[in-house]
Amino acid sequence: MRGRKHNMTQNDIASIRIRRATADDQDTIRRMIKDAELDPTALHWSQFMLAETASGEVVGAGQIRPQGRELGSIVVLPAWRSQGIASQIIKALLANETDVVYLECEKHMTGYYGRFGFVEMMWWRAPFPLNVKHFYLKTRYWLTRYRFAVMRRPALSL
Ligand SMILES: CC(C)(COP(=O)(O)OP(=O)(O)OC[C@H]1O[C@@H](n2cnc3c(N)ncnc32)[C@H](O)[C@@H]1OP(=O)(O)O)[C@@H](O)C(=O)NCCC(=O)NCCS
Repeated sequence: MRGRKHNMTQNDIASIRIRRATADDQDTIRRMIKDAELDPTALHWSQFMLAETASGEVVGAGQIRPQGRELGSIVVLPAWRSQGIASQIIKALLANETDVVYLECEKHMTGYYGRFGFVEMMWWRAPFPLNVKHFYLKTRYWLTRYRFAVMRRPALSL
């Protein structure tokens, strides 16, 4: 599938289902994260939700890392983007979260994550290991055009 354009129809999109990952998905998850050049650490399948087509192809993924309650590893295969698949994955991941959830993203993505209730915060107030990871990224990309943000979705008042 990598690199191949998918002539998708509205039926293809409507047939996408969001499911929990299983141990059999571990290699697929690692490959998708590697191809998208996202953080390759803490990718255990048990933390992931996946988007799957009717024919069983995994086209999207995302997780909440238990340490630091960090929403991350959000990825959708290029041919399937801009169809709301990442939104479906994020909503499914957040559905059972009542406590604070954090994330780190590139600055230009803050508007997107704002749609799900995330607001930007001071990075040094983020829990470990997110604060350390952010400091490392900030330092590493200091002289480049890349800028990063840390965000939090407040705990829900039940
Ligand atoms: C970011 C990503 C997961 C979005 O997946 P998706 O299924 O296309 O997302 P949705 O359809 O729910 O939402 C699409 C919206 O996301 C926002 N968005 C996506 N990429 C963006 C970018 N690089 N900059 C700013 N906004 C962006 C836009 O608002 C976009 O709306 P549009 O399609 O009308 O322009 C996908 O582009 C991807 O896999 N990118 C590579 C990995 C990555 O960067 N992950 C995020 C790490 S923080």
